[in-house]
Amino acid sequence: SKTLTVLGIETSCDETAAAVLRLTDGRAELLSDVIRTQLEEHAPYLGVVPEIAARAHAELADLTVKAAMHESGVSYSELDGVAATSGPGLIGGVLVGMMTGKAIAQAASKPFVAVNHLEGHALSPRLGNDCPFPYLLLLVSGGHCQFLEVRGLGQYRRLGSTIDDAVGEAFDKTAKTLGLGFPGGPAVERLAEGGNAEAFDLPRPLLNRPGLDMSFAGLKTAVARAAADTDMSEAELKDLCASFQGAVTDILSTKAALALADFDPGEDGHKRFVVAGGVAANKAIRAALTRVAEEAGATLIAPPLRHCTDNAAMIALAGAERLAAGLVEGDAGDLATGARP
Ligand code: KG4
Ligand code: ZN
Repeated sequence: SKTLTVLGIETSCDETAAAVLRLTDGRAELLSDVIRTQLEEHAPYLGVVPEIAARAHAELADLTVKAAMHESGVSYSELDGVAATSGPGLIGGVLVGMMTGKAIAQAASKPFVAVNHLEGHALSPRLGNDCPFPYLLLLVSGGHCQFLEVRGLGQYRRLGSTIDDAVGEAFDKTAKTLGLGFPGGPAVERLAEGGNAEAFDLPRPLLNRPGLDMSFAGLKTAVARAAADTDMSEAELKDLCASFQGAVTDILSTKAALALADFDPGEDGHKRFVVAGGVAANKAIRAALTRVAEEAGATLIAPPLRHCTDNAAMIALAGAERLAAGLVEGDAGDLATGARP
């Protein structure tokens, strides 16, 4: 049996992360999985500030890699490759991660593997080893909102995506409008629990159009208008959060049902539906998607939250799978690949 041990590095947004993963005959084993979040640095600005993120990555990258290597008990010479996110992401952070990964790869004479951040997310449910290809993936986070058909390594088809804001971004902007702080998702969810989702009639753009594209910008604007009209009581604030979350849930559920109806499960006839990204933490959205999956005869797979949000384990896995499949050429690997914003 062939075993590959890979160091992965992720720095494309506001988490500095490094992980060491061992892949044996397609089975992934995490030897370490370090994530240093920068939430506190960005919280005062109610969003991720690219310049602050780049500086934080530059400060934290070495320490984070060192911690991951130390925890894994693997030496640099025992690695089979070094993988880093090469984009898309905030360019300052991507550059830091790639330079770090390339330098380590060269110093240790190992191939460097450039990993597309979205491929990392697409493969993330496979960290749990119970998610064979093919599957339908809904990726919903602060930066992403799309349906992907994942048929195999390198076989991804985007079926639909947001035409404006990502869902998490809509949660964050709504929270900002309502003065709830950052990140907005958890705060909006908490208030929504005590509210009436029918209280405000909010738009559901693109809901009844064919296709799997989604739109959330109009919804966010409608929330801002509703909030500006009145001097809101606590009860009204809860109703508005519940109505916003209800509209988002409606859009995601309706499009997920459409996507599942069309999804070809392949040989074993088993439809797998994976939800990943920070928004997958939302209990109301998760419950609604579980119902949609059941109605479509599909199984909902939600990776643990740690691997739903940005992490380096998924980057190490993508790197190891690419190495195992022979997609990385030469002793130096993807050393010539540049960072992509
Ligand atoms: O995946 P993630 O950690 O980072 C990236 O965007 O890549 O996702 C963070 C996003 C934020 O927009 C946050 O508000 C949202 O996920 N989020 C939630 C919840 N927890 C986090 N949205 C709705 N409900 C939640 N419970
Ligand atoms: Zn991400």
